[in-house]
Amino acid sequence: MNVLLIGSGGREHALAWKLAASPMLTRLYAAPGNPGIAREAELVALDIADHQAVVAFCREKSIGLVIVGPEGPLVAGLGDDLRAAGIKVFGPSKAAARLEGSKGFTKDLCARYDIPTAAYGRFDTPAAARAYVKSQGAPIVVKADGLAAGKGVTVAMTEAEALAAIDDCFDGSFGSAGAEVVVEEFLTGEEASFFCLCDGKTAMPFGTAQDHKQVGDGDTGPNTGGMGAYSPAPVMTPDMIDRTMREIVAPTMRGMADMGAPFSGVLFVGLMITEAGPKLIEYNVRFGDPECQVLMMRLRDDLLVLLEAAADGQLSHMSARWRDEAALTVVMAASGYPGTPQKGTVIRGLEQAQNSGVEIFHAGTAERDGTIVANGGRVLNVTAMAGTVGEAQRKAYAAIDLIDWPEGFCRRDIGWRAVEREKGR
Ligand code: AMP
Ligand code: GLY
Repeated sequence: MNVLLIGSGGREHALAWKLAASPMLTRLYAAPGNPGIAREAELVALDIADHQAVVAFCREKSIGLVIVGPEGPLVAGLGDDLRAAGIKVFGPSKAAARLEGSKGFTKDLCARYDIPTAAYGRFDTPAAARAYVKSQGAPIVVKADGLAAGKGVTVAMTEAEALAAIDDCFDGSFGSAGAEVVVEEFLTGEEASFFCLCDGKTAMPFGTAQDHKQVGDGDTGPNTGGMGAYSPAPVMTPDMIDRTMREIVAPTMRGMADMGAPFSGVLFVGLMITEAGPKLIEYNVRFGDPECQVLMMRLRDDLLVLLEAAADGQLSHMSARWRDEAALTVVMAASGYPGTPQKGTVIRGLEQAQNSGVEIFHAGTAERDGTIVANGGRVLNVTAMAGTVGEAQRKAYAAIDLIDWPEGFCRRDIGWRAVEREKGR
């Protein structure tokens, strides 16, 4: 089968790497891809926003399945336009992508189907949102309703911070994404990411992970898209997975089907494991980045077979098997990130690092005269697998120490929570 993969980050490199191992694969194309993905796929310069151009490419190359990596094209309806042209897609429709595209939509679904989540209010004027904050007090969480590139959430420890965040949203800091805000209860507990492959009817558990959102060691500093991740997540015990499926995922699948927007694709369930059990923080309608990188390392089965089954509505016959080892990925970022990253700096020693027994997924790189240079905020994902999270951590950092890139940086403590747990055993 010929496959087109949409996207250009570390998540898509990990997907390409795993897809390339499928005996079912004939040719893999990636648009736009990156220099790491180019090792596994033929890169094509397609304008993803031009859906008819994507349709024309799929026809020309007899694409059997399109796999959409990021949320942007899904929320924009790329899946619908491809399906309307008779092309098979892994990824939800525009209507189902509202689970990520509108936080208010998801909160209302939770309310209607009794899905455990933080108590909330939805507001389209600053005055109403401010009044709600004043009635609830701090700590409290303010979220722009729409897609804000991971930057639309403020966990406010004081009322003043929350009020400032409301003003930011309505002042247009997040464009149209901030025209409405959700204000919600501050939850405490341990966060975990849980994934399900979905085919509209069936949801199949597809791995657990934990990521580190903050830029600095010890989980300090501003939030990022994710500075590293590991899998499995120790808090996601079989019992917790079972509860999450029953209390959160199953009613969501039912709710989406009931409103004529059945969910197919990958559902990324962002959870807070509280004293009262799992609560939904947010949904994403795509794989996590960098969570996908650690999932792909551990997946034993043929990814292409599973994603096609999801696109075909055939998941009820499937299951996924995982390696027992732990996988851990460390993000190397360009200095300046999560602000404006420095671009164009030269990265050396990648081959030597890769030969130490890790996978290096490219996130934001470019190739210039045969050398790899930084071309984004998150640049490389150094990914290791071992018997314990601690060993995987050592392997990843040993490989990082072989990379010669003075303008790059990484956290030195990815996986600390799991490593501490292992020490306590
Ligand atoms: P999100 O972009 O929705 O993933 O939110 C970013 C981060 O904010 C999450 O990973 C949590 O750490 C935090 N967060 C979001 N909602 C809440 C909440 N209701 N209570 C506590 N922390 C939250
Ligand atoms: N790593 C978090 C995300 O992909 O949203």
